[in-house]
Amino acid sequence: MVRNCREVKVRELRFLGAWDEPSDFVELTLENPGWEGYRPGQFAMLRPKHWGLELSWGRPFSISRANAESVTFFFQVVGRGTQRLAHLKPGDEVVLWGPLGNGFSAPVETPTVLLAGGMGLAPFRGYIEKHPTPEFLRLVFAHRPELECYPYAEMSEKVRAEAIREKTPDDLPLVIERIETAVREAAGGIVLACGPLPFLKTVQQAARTRQVRAELSLERSMACGVGACLGCVCKDGQDKHVQVCARGPVFNAEDVRL
Ligand SMILES: Cc1cc2nc3c(=O)[nH]c(=O)nc-3n(C[C@H](O)[C@H](O)[C@H](O)COP(=O)(O)OP(=O)(O)OC[C@H]3O[C@@H](n4cnc5c(N)ncnc54)[C@H](O)[C@@H]3O)c2cc1C
Ligand code: FES
Repeated sequence: MVRNCREVKVRELRFLGAWDEPSDFVELTLENPGWEGYRPGQFAMLRPKHWGLELSWGRPFSISRANAESVTFFFQVVGRGTQRLAHLKPGDEVVLWGPLGNGFSAPVETPTVLLAGGMGLAPFRGYIEKHPTPEFLRLVFAHRPELECYPYAEMSEKVRAEAIREKTPDDLPLVIERIETAVREAAGGIVLACGPLPFLKTVQQAARTRQVRAELSLERSMACGVGACLGCVCKDGQDKHVQVCARGPVFNAEDVRL
């Protein structure tokens, strides 16, 4: 696994969403740190050089895609750090740690259902682009804001895809039913899931019930990102504490307690 810390420049920052509404959804592209060999599901810690001591730690984000020229992240503004990241300008310098963590399995010629909830879509963009047999992939995307806030359209051109919108809380039972159906239909293959905790719990439960192989990518607040601070622990299948940044963020569904 490659681990490094680099200072790179912002190449582009753009907001995704309906053209007539302000957006909290940001695509950030940085000059290439040489990560084209990364494994989708891995993440990086980002900290702009000009941040002061009031924001002493970087913020973790999935690598959304990386090629020979650049690395791209996709994030939603939710607090102080992401608010400040959304104000970056081309040429600003960012300290970048990564690629970190383990990443998803990528079995070839195996039916693979990618289950994404909200910002959990981010790692699957690169996953689809790098996969040697994309015709075996299927994307199921559950979201609340409009579809234009996500890079879903370009992804759905490359693989079989369906989007399910939870527009109001009344839609939730239908969303859960569709997730459970997608897991059931993955029998004999594998499910890879990334999204908020309740979403992952639904996937885990469905995979257990149907005995479908599944991997879950966990999000925890992180400070160091490299196993040094215990800021990101969760419990594994034996009830032991494990660091999500060092042992994950991707876990076999049966090896983690949510
Ligand atoms: C491995 C990993 C990959 C991630 N990938 C992405 C990604 O691709 N795109 C994206 O938008 N976000 C991603 N996140 C979440 C992202 O790191 C947080 O949204 C970000 O750190 C929030 O920083 P902030 O300073 O803006 O918010 P803060 O001011 O720190 O917190 C604002 C709110 O966000 C919540 N929050 C903070 N950190 C997290 C977290 N890690 N998970 C869930 N909620 C959090 C806080 O509880 C609080 O409610 C990822 C997290 C991890 C651990
Ligand atoms: S974030 Fe420091 S140990 Fe995981």
